[in-house]
Amino acid sequence: MIRTTQRLAPVLGMVLCALLSMTAAMISPARSGAVTASSCVPARPTSCTLRELATLNGIRIGATAEASETTDADHAGTLVREFDSVTPENAMKWYATQADPGVWTFTDADTVVAHAAAHDMEVRGHTLVWAQDSYTPAWVRAISDPAVLRAAVETQITTTMNHFRGSVHRWDVVNEPLASLGTGRSTSVFWSLGDDWIAEAFALAHSIDPTAELWLNEYGSDWVPGKHEALVALVRELIDRGVPIDGVGLQTHRLPGDPLDAARFTAQLTDFTSLGLQVAITELDVPVSPTDPDAFARQAVEYGAITAACLSVRGCAEITIWGVSDGSTWLDALGVFPTPTRPLLFDTAFQPKPAYEAVRAALAAPLVAASPVVDTSPPTSSPEILPITGAETTAAATVAFLLIGLGLLLRRSAGHRMRPSD
Ligand code: G3I
Repeated sequence: MIRTTQRLAPVLGMVLCALLSMTAAMISPARSGAVTASSCVPARPTSCTLRELATLNGIRIGATAEASETTDADHAGTLVREFDSVTPENAMKWYATQADPGVWTFTDADTVVAHAAAHDMEVRGHTLVWAQDSYTPAWVRAISDPAVLRAAVETQITTTMNHFRGSVHRWDVVNEPLASLGTGRSTSVFWSLGDDWIAEAFALAHSIDPTAELWLNEYGSDWVPGKHEALVALVRELIDRGVPIDGVGLQTHRLPGDPLDAARFTAQLTDFTSLGLQVAITELDVPVSPTDPDAFARQAVEYGAITAACLSVRGCAEITIWGVSDGSTWLDALGVFPTPTRPLLFDTAFQPKPAYEAVRAALAAPLVAASPVVDTSPPTSSPEILPITGAETTAAATVAFLLIGLGLLLRRSAGHRMRPSD
């Protein structure tokens, strides 16, 4: 059923968006950044934002934000216009929320979450436990008694999830449990808790919020030899043991000058959906050489291929870009690649790059292929009518019928509420 729905997502999404925007217009003014399907015609991708097209495809498109960026007009404006999911880049990490034992700081994370809520955006909670010790607070690393460390992990997960209950529905419960550049375990202190610590973290998270999606997030599996297979083995073991895991996030920090093997990447995504899980691209960026005159063209191809790969896999639920503009990428401070690395969709002036156009075109492509689209823009050319299958027509008509009924009900309800006597 889930898979059938996802196959029909482009069609159902378009119907849903149109009817919901009609309904919303009846009962309330549109919120800033909300999808308004009326102006988006996928056959003319330039009429659409990324978030409109992502919604029509039934996936999320996300980007990061720091608290300070929510008051930066360029960053915040671009974020809410183009994306429907936000990952707090750093504000939910253990070092940010509990840098000292028992001293909790949620201010920055609250700011990002409030910004998301105000603009109809989802939040990807990142991250409850990061198994790379460079990013673990010193006081945690110093704990040598496993019982004390286990209690500290439990407190971190419990307090953080309880704080955001109701506003964060999706968590990277464990981040980067595998070795950075290998196939074994990371050297993190958390592995000193024994083989079961990841399973325990997921079980605890599930007990705190049974409605939350719980994800394992990992990086480098697209370019470290053998790491993908190691990750699949780890995930399969969790599933076999009944661990409540919903999805696997592949960070997909690409390397300059290392073009993606799209078929292999697609197969890697499928390896997780075949296990019955969702998969997501959670931290996408594509750094390029500062001296390559074709850098942006190559980068656009890479972004387009990754977007198309996700869209081709049922169960690939999200593409999140690790930043908004080239002016604030973490890669320029990393000291590994020649700078500027320019890895994102918008340039330092927040102007869309060829990579942006490539993502937008890739998001539009399956919609155009799957749905009848009558372009009602001023008559510069003949309207384009594209084919649709019988099953999709029936499903779309059924949903349309139900939603029209819902819209009428809401309209009546809104009319009732607006009566002066009420
Ligand atoms: O907040 C301090 C600030 O007070 C200080 O003045 C400044 C001076 O360097 O540092 C600031 O902290 C930095 C923080 O980002 C906020 O900007 C840290 O030094 C810096 O190490 C930290 O880097 C972040 C890194 O994770 C470590 O948390 C990057 O922004 C962030 O993009 C990166 O994100 C990770 C994902 O969470 C997991 N996957 C890999 C990805 C890249 O490492």
